[in-house]
Amino acid sequence: MEIKMVGVAGCGLMGHGIAQVSAEAGYEVVVTELTQEKLDRGIGKIEKQLDRAVEKGKLERADADAIRARVKPTLHPHEFAECDLVIEAITEDLDMKLDLWKQVDEIVKADAFFATNTSSLPVIDQAAATGRPERFLGLHFFNPVQRMPLLEVIQSVTTSPEAMELGMAYGARLGKTTVETKDKAGFIVNRLLVPYLLDGIRGLEEGIGSIEEIDNAMKAGAGHPMGPLTLSDFVGLDTLASIANVMFDEFRERRFAAPPTLRKMVAAGFYGVKSGRGFYDYSGEKPVPVNPGL
Ligand code: 3HC
Repeated sequence: MEIKMVGVAGCGLMGHGIAQVSAEAGYEVVVTELTQEKLDRGIGKIEKQLDRAVEKGKLERADADAIRARVKPTLHPHEFAECDLVIEAITEDLDMKLDLWKQVDEIVKADAFFATNTSSLPVIDQAAATGRPERFLGLHFFNPVQRMPLLEVIQSVTTSPEAMELGMAYGARLGKTTVETKDKAGFIVNRLLVPYLLDGIRGLEEGIGSIEEIDNAMKAGAGHPMGPLTLSDFVGLDTLASIANVMFDEFRERRFAAPPTLRKMVAAGFYGVKSGRGFYDYSGEKPVPVNPGL
């Protein structure tokens, strides 16, 4: 099957990026959110990035307008009816995802494919809740979606070879580096990245360095574009904690356990960049490290 129209559920950090790169690749896109405010915020980010690309001379105005025109924002999931591929990028909460699929499964044409952008929840738990588990796969993007080249294409026990082929072809059309992987919590990248980020936080708890020292050390010593505490803020401390919890439940290994500091910061509403405060305060011109008071 050739994909013409892509549905994206969720227009937040990941969803707006998935909608944008899909429209840039020439697909018609329908993107939904729960509230008009969230929808406007996500679409605003897409428009801002397209404008910036025009200003930098990387995109013609007419092409930017055509990309924007291919994205249809709506509050009504019934607009997914004619989509060939629907990708969910909503909150990392299994019950919310299952509710969404129950609704979407009844609306969308029978031969369409479904994909989850989950960062760690088993794909099969969502696939099995739909009437089309063989047409359900994982498509895991990385933040910022517009910038990070990787797309993990995940095969659950029910995913058909045809669905995997479709996922790989979709990724190739987006210009992504695609990697096939299995339905194991964290897949490839988060399996390796999450214990590292958690160790950065444990290192802070143990006093191996200050926030800035730990970040600067990994940037200058290991060539990473961001240190682990900056990257944790960037991923979202709530998201990081929920990924860690899923992986800990799955593997029962300390390396996946959320350190107390992370749990407390999430309880306090310090989610990182998105809430304005995490290991850094983002209210000023430049991020300022804030000791979480260990
Ligand atoms: N959204 C869209 N585009 C962005 C962006 C954003 N949030 N941030 C930066 N960019 C674009 C800029 O517009 C710029 O584009 P241009 O080259 O066309 O002008 C380009 O990226 C470079 O931006 P900057 O020069 O401002 O910044 P840097 O060179 O410092 O790069 C970065 C920014 C790409 C975010 C870099 O710091 C980086 O690679 N950081 C690591 C990101 C990472 O590890 N992501 C994976 C997180 S894990 C994950 O997503 C999995 C999930 O399950 C948790």
